[in-house]
Amino acid sequence: MARRKIIAGNWKMNKTPSEAVALVNELKPLVATEDADVVFCVPAIDIIPAMEAAKGSNICIGAENMYYEESGAYTGEIAPAMLTDVGVKYVIIGHSERREYFAETDETVNKKVLKAFEHGITPIICCGESLTQREQGITIDWIRQQIKIAFLNVTADQAKTAVIAYEPIWAIGTGKVATTEQAQEVCHAIRVCIGEIFDQATAEAIRIQYGGSVSASNAAELFAQADIDGGLVGGASLKADFGKIVNYK
Ligand code: PGA
Repeated sequence: MARRKIIAGNWKMNKTPSEAVALVNELKPLVATEDADVVFCVPAIDIIPAMEAAKGSNICIGAENMYYEESGAYTGEIAPAMLTDVGVKYVIIGHSERREYFAETDETVNKKVLKAFEHGITPIICCGESLTQREQGITIDWIRQQIKIAFLNVTADQAKTAVIAYEPIWAIGTGKVATTEQAQEVCHAIRVCIGEIFDQATAEAIRIQYGGSVSASNAAELFAQADIDGGLVGGASLKADFGKIVNYK
């Protein structure tokens, strides 16, 4: 069975609630497609207005982060039930910016992944190597370790529904996209790793995105690769170009 493509925008810390409504309204007609799942991961405060604006369209509104406890004394955090209560179905977990600036580790990523599944939210689990790691030739080892820890205690049935975003850190927001061969090589290695942790059926079902300077000009070639099932898009998801990325064919 062919995997359905999933193309997600990661708005990061951009757009006020009123700007979010305007952007959803602008992009709504441009991202209409029946061929892929389209997700806008937006700042927490934008989730509700963005959902209102997206009503009746194919856009699914997701979150950019979530905490791994149910509730309580965790000032500033968002609980999983807060997301599900308003109908959020996707959450980005362990983006490299969260790892770099907010001290997230493979272990906290694993806790968040487990919590997301417990609440029926699909995690978009991020992994990726730094430029130094790539130059040292340890990219695949590094990614395999990130994946193995992220999926600790996850069941095969859960893993089948997960989304993994492979995002080389050196390609994020730099305009320096990985070559198609580099992106495919790592996405393939991730699928092999999932096959080892679980089984072949899980490896074939899980969706793996590429992220890092995806644009209207490189999306078609990237998304045509055997192991690349769509993209996680930062900068270009805030522009009309996102429509071209979603309708890349
Ligand atoms: P970019 O960001 O598309 O702006 O490189 C991707 C991401 O960080 O998810």
